[in-house]
Amino acid sequence: MFLGMFNVSFCSNSLISYLRNKNFYNMHYLNITDDIYFLGYNDRRTHLFENIWPVPNGVSYNSYIIVDEKIALIDTVERSFIDEYLDNIEEIIGERKIDYLVINHMEPDHSGALKAIVQKYPGITLVGNKKTFAFVENYYMKPEQLLMISDGDSLSLGKHNLQFHTIPMVHWPETMVTYEDTRKIVFSGDAFGSFGTLDGGVFDDEIDLDLYEPEVMRYFTNIVGKYCPHTQRALKKLAPLDIKMIAPTHGPVWRSDLEWILKRYNKWSSYDPDPGVVIVYGSMYGHTQAMAEVIARRLAVRGIKNIRVYDASKTHPSYIINDIFKYKGFIVGSAAYNNSLFPTVDNLLTIIKDISPKNHLLGIFGNFSWSGGGVKNLKVFAEEIKWELVYDSVEEKGSLKRENTDKLISLADAMADKLAGA
Ligand code: FEO
Repeated sequence: MFLGMFNVSFCSNSLISYLRNKNFYNMHYLNITDDIYFLGYNDRRTHLFENIWPVPNGVSYNSYIIVDEKIALIDTVERSFIDEYLDNIEEIIGERKIDYLVINHMEPDHSGALKAIVQKYPGITLVGNKKTFAFVENYYMKPEQLLMISDGDSLSLGKHNLQFHTIPMVHWPETMVTYEDTRKIVFSGDAFGSFGTLDGGVFDDEIDLDLYEPEVMRYFTNIVGKYCPHTQRALKKLAPLDIKMIAPTHGPVWRSDLEWILKRYNKWSSYDPDPGVVIVYGSMYGHTQAMAEVIARRLAVRGIKNIRVYDASKTHPSYIINDIFKYKGFIVGSAAYNNSLFPTVDNLLTIIKDISPKNHLLGIFGNFSWSGGGVKNLKVFAEEIKWELVYDSVEEKGSLKRENTDKLISLADAMADKLAGA
């Protein structure tokens, strides 16, 4: 629309240069208010976030800068973006110096540029809590200027006033959020973040939330999911704040419909799964898979609509743990392998035990050829995870036969009954 304002004699290079100087379409920074900027970098190359979790849609690292009488940077970015990040900051603030680096979270996807910032702006004061500075020293350096804040402390930048609220274990011990009380923005760190790059749209009203929802949830369940009680405490703690915008360190900035994200965080972190069953199996030659198929079919006959069947060797635990947060039932089967669990099932169960979601119903089954080991270890898992076991374990030797088919049907019936509240 605004292109019509330009004289037609503008050559295209001049136009591009003008637009760039005016920051009309800079891909890395933009105003979220008149004097608060988003600085965000799309990582489209990394395959595994934290070298564990698949990010087929990439991930963004978001930082923010408030330009006031004092200038404050809120978190930094992952180290591979340092050069662009420093250039972009200079484009925003020119020759001015940054007064404060507020560190909401020290994980290196956000603190990766910390050392570069301190080197370029040697007078900068690092702002964090006691736990923050232990990480700073262990990872990078002993800071020369620091401001150690306690929960609830404030810092004035001029017309902007920052309040610090600690939210430990969302996602690390030092994590806190920073609340800017003039424009009522919460700089939330990992909380309310998402996997997925920002493909042009930065704000929630600029994107299709239906496309982002699976990645918002997978970010929560994979990264923060272990800390649901802490997330619940954080939500209660932040509830009294008058919040107009939530600015996380990954994914979209929430400004139009805060309820959308707050409602989902509350549901996911309160262990409130929907009726449905996740069936996972580890199978070499198809016998354990055949057992899973019987269970799935019987559940469908019993009216269960949400059934997800996964081969543990094919689907990454990231997606399975995500569905475990969605659905109340979990039925797992393992072939015996080297007298133990099938390795991909073993890996999945280790991750489930570590994240330890609550409020689930469990069923177990397996298969063996000579000495077993699958079901034996599934029983150990059942004892450790403490989910309600809905039926006895079912174990077949070789191909699936009538007697155990009937037991698998009974297992599925027991799960369906429990889900129906019978
Ligand atoms: Fe995005 Fe816990 O770091």
